[in-house]
Amino acid sequence: MRRPLVAGNWKLNGSGASIEALVKGILTGASELDDVSIVVCAPYVYIPQTADLLKGSEVGLGAQDVSDQSEGAFTGEVSAAMLNEFGCQYVIVGHSERRALFGERDEDTAGKFAATRKQGLIPVLCVGESLEERESGITEAVVGRQLDAVIALEGVEALADAVIAYEPVWAIGTGKTASPQQAQDVHAFIRGRIAALNGDVAEKVQILYGGSVKGSNAAELFAMADIDGGLIGGASLNAQDFLAICQAGHNANH
Ligand code: 13P
Repeated sequence: MRRPLVAGNWKLNGSGASIEALVKGILTGASELDDVSIVVCAPYVYIPQTADLLKGSEVGLGAQDVSDQSEGAFTGEVSAAMLNEFGCQYVIVGHSERRALFGERDEDTAGKFAATRKQGLIPVLCVGESLEERESGITEAVVGRQLDAVIALEGVEALADAVIAYEPVWAIGTGKTASPQQAQDVHAFIRGRIAALNGDVAEKVQILYGGSVKGSNAAELFAMADIDGGLIGGASLNAQDFLAICQAGHNANH
């Protein structure tokens, strides 16, 4: 089995005080789950604080977005080199909220994926369909297109050291989780599309599920053959809830 990975995406939430309490809470349980990679993705300004709190632990640090540019006149942007300097190891790219609310296109996401890798950081590439797209029967076409944009720019080999997160938009923050079989079907499609180009990369790449994952449904999702962990929104804001999901990753590995 691939090593399970559970990543928290805090989105636009938290304060210095709440993040300190959250990280300290996560660290009380994380050390016993040493066969699971645990990562937290903080808002940019809290990255230095989170890095300090995580020092000496095995919990990884990520950002929620990055510029596709390396430097220059791009007001408001943050580069992968800056994230690297402040201790990030992971960067979420192409989250559906960036795509839907901020107009990020497939080629923009691919550029961010490339910028992340160039700094030796691990991109967490998000893909997923909207409810309308699912109901029109074009889930695979949408996810395939999102994946192909990255492969076209960086080559399939680039996915060997990357993480993919399948996040159906209709399951994000809605309490409506994809069924384990619905998620597995898309994960198998993603792995199959990669396998058609390179079997070794397909075997290696971690594919996470995201969308209303909780302690109560994580075990059944993580039991599926092609689901290697989760990208967690709401439930990552509470240490006990997040640790329950990490525990499910540990149990799935045994
Ligand atoms: P929720 O877990 O709140 O549904 O969010 C999922 C998500 O978007 C993680 O990136």
